[in-house]
Amino acid sequence: MASTTRLILNDLHAHGRLNHQQWLTLLAEAQSAPAFAEEIRTCAHAIRERYFGRAVYIRGLIEISNYCRNDCYYCGIRKSNGEVSRYRLSPNEILQCCRQGHDLGFRTFVLQGGEDAWFNDDRLARLVAAIRAEFPDSAITLSLGERSRESYERLFAAGANRYLLRHEAVNPDLYASLHPPRQRLANRLDCLRNLQAIGYQAGAGFMVGAPGQTLAHIAEDMVFLGDFRPAMVGIGPFIPQHATSYAHEPAGSVDLTLILLSLIRIMLPNVLLPATTALGTMDPQGHAKGMRAGANVVMPNLSPADVRGKYLLYDNKMSFGSEAAEGLDTLRQHMAEAGYKVVVARGDQPPLEN
Ligand code: 5AD
Repeated sequence: MASTTRLILNDLHAHGRLNHQQWLTLLAEAQSAPAFAEEIRTCAHAIRERYFGRAVYIRGLIEISNYCRNDCYYCGIRKSNGEVSRYRLSPNEILQCCRQGHDLGFRTFVLQGGEDAWFNDDRLARLVAAIRAEFPDSAITLSLGERSRESYERLFAAGANRYLLRHEAVNPDLYASLHPPRQRLANRLDCLRNLQAIGYQAGAGFMVGAPGQTLAHIAEDMVFLGDFRPAMVGIGPFIPQHATSYAHEPAGSVDLTLILLSLIRIMLPNVLLPATTALGTMDPQGHAKGMRAGANVVMPNLSPADVRGKYLLYDNKMSFGSEAAEGLDTLRQHMAEAGYKVVVARGDQPPLEN
C-alpha cells in the first residue's frame, strides 16, 4: 500500500494530475497514515520554497456588500437569511479602504461581495477604473460571483487582474444538494472558463467537509483542478452557520484541509494558495500551519470595522487580530515566529519552472 501511494505521489509531482481512482487512493492513505501525510507536506513545502521562498503574500479583503440574490444552503449571507443586517459600501468607502490598505503595505485589493444587483457593470467598471488609476502598482482581484462574459470583459478592460469564483463542487449531485435549482453548476463552470479565457488569473476552490461531501467528491474536485489549472485555489473547512439549513452539520476537518493544501501545491506548483479565514477561524495556528502545508497567501480583512460583523458566511468568522488589516503587525509577527516573511508586493503568479 505504502509503496503504491508513494508512486502515485511521484506521479502527481511529475505530471501535475492524477485520475479519480489515484486521487481516492492517495487521499485515503494520507488521511489514515500520518507519516505519509507528513511526507506529502514536506514535498509541498519544498515546492513552496522553490517558487516563493519564505514569502507570504497579503491581500486586502474588502467585503463590499452582503446583499446576495443567491441562496446557497451553507452560506450565512444567503438571500433567505432574514437575520442578516444588510449593508453595501459606497464606491467612495471602497476607495478609502484601498487608500488605507495601500498605506499599510497591501498591493492587492480583493473586492468580494454577494451577487448584489446594485453593483451593475457601469458602477463596477467605474470603481475598478478609479482604483486602477489611483493604485497603478497594485493588483485588483474581484470576487463577485457569476456575471456575464461581457461583464467580465468590461471589468478586465477597466483594470481588474484576478477573479475568485469557487466552483464549490464539480459533482452535479453534490452541487445540486448545496444550491437551489436555479444555481447551475454548468453556469458556474462556464463563468470560470470565461474568466480564464479573458485573461484573468482565475481562482477556483471548494469547502472541505461541506455537508454530504465524501472523499470521492473531493477526488473529483482535485481532478477538476488538475484539468482547469487555476492560478489561485481557495479552500477552507466548512463551518456551520446557525441560521442556515446546515446549522447542525459538523465542521470540516483542519487536518484534511492541510493535506489538500499540500496536494494542491504539488499538483499546481506555482499556484497562489491562501490559508483562508475559515482555516484561521477553526485553528488559531491556521495561518502558520497553512504556510507549512504549502500555502503562500493570507487575506486580512480591510473592510470598515463596523461592517465586519455583518459579513458572516459562518459562525464566529474571524475579522480582527491577525485576520485584520490593522492587525498586520500581529500577522507579521506570527509569520516571523513560524519562519515566514510578509512581503509588500503585488504577488502575481510566478511562471512555471520545469
Ligand atoms: N463555511 C465555510 N465557507 C463558507 N463559504 C460560504 N459559506 C461557508 C461556510 N458556512 C465559502 C464558500 C464561498 C466563499 C465566499 O465562502 O465556498 O465560495
